[in-house]
Amino acid sequence: MRYMKELANKKDFIETVQMKGLTISLIASADSTEIIHHKLDPDTRWALEPEEGWVALEYLFILSGELKLLTKEGFTLYKAGDSFYRNPVTEHYVFQSVGTTEFLYVSSQPVFHRYSQISRDLVNLAISIEQKDGYTSDHCGRISKLSMLVGEKLALDSQQLLRLNMASFFHDIGKVKIPLEILLKPGELTAEEWQTMKNHSIYGRQLLEETKLPLLKSVGEIVEQHHERYDGKGYPYGLSKDEIRIEASIISVVDSFDAMTTDRPYHKAKSSEEAISEIARCKGTMYFPEVVDAFISIQKYMN
Ligand SMILES: [Fe+2]
Repeated sequence: MRYMKELANKKDFIETVQMKGLTISLIASADSTEIIHHKLDPDTRWALEPEEGWVALEYLFILSGELKLLTKEGFTLYKAGDSFYRNPVTEHYVFQSVGTTEFLYVSSQPVFHRYSQISRDLVNLAISIEQKDGYTSDHCGRISKLSMLVGEKLALDSQQLLRLNMASFFHDIGKVKIPLEILLKPGELTAEEWQTMKNHSIYGRQLLEETKLPLLKSVGEIVEQHHERYDGKGYPYGLSKDEIRIEASIISVVDSFDAMTTDRPYHKAKSSEEAISEIARCKGTMYFPEVVDAFISIQKYMN
């Protein structure tokens, strides 16, 4: 144990990647085994997922802080000095940090470069789009935070919450394929331009699918549905009610709220109260009623 702590404290990491709430650093890599130091900000989720065709040991050793393993019944707590392993991973395990938490992750499946590069590229892409799209900053972060509050209020399970967390951050990533003259056009879009713009949800699903990572493929299905409407008048497929995944219904409400309450180049922000009454007005037409109720009940977290 002391050796592992020393190893983690050396800080001569081969490579470090920072993502949303998470810093991962490759400490050592050989014979297709990787030792990766993880630092999670408070309340950050991290998951171990089974991967088709892969049979390998995955091992966690907690260095500091605490990690909750979320289960249907509640959670199991892992503290500094505790370890967790599966050989192989056959289920989905979702952990959540309590305070800042550091752990070592040892895997005989080399994942660092593949996951880190893909995640880094996607996060950078999402951020570059929110800027081009006229949002000042942290639109993706806000959507993600509020979506999680609504998801927790609706008692989604840990797998759904994990996917919601990622889908909400990446919901508009497909806008990268929309021509800039349309994305940046001041004023109203023509009918034809609007048709092009609407493709962004399909492009988002395609982009996430192209990563070939099972988790992101499933996230892509949610992203594709974030402009569907409860009454079936949304796009791209005109799905309605329960045909729309609950995660997508949540993102739809939260995204509308954020758009209404943010100053954009061509529209002035509404107050939170005005935006909430607009969302309440569209309950049962645009938005899933239960999602609207959950959203209204978390108003105290909005500013
Ligand atoms: Fe969108």
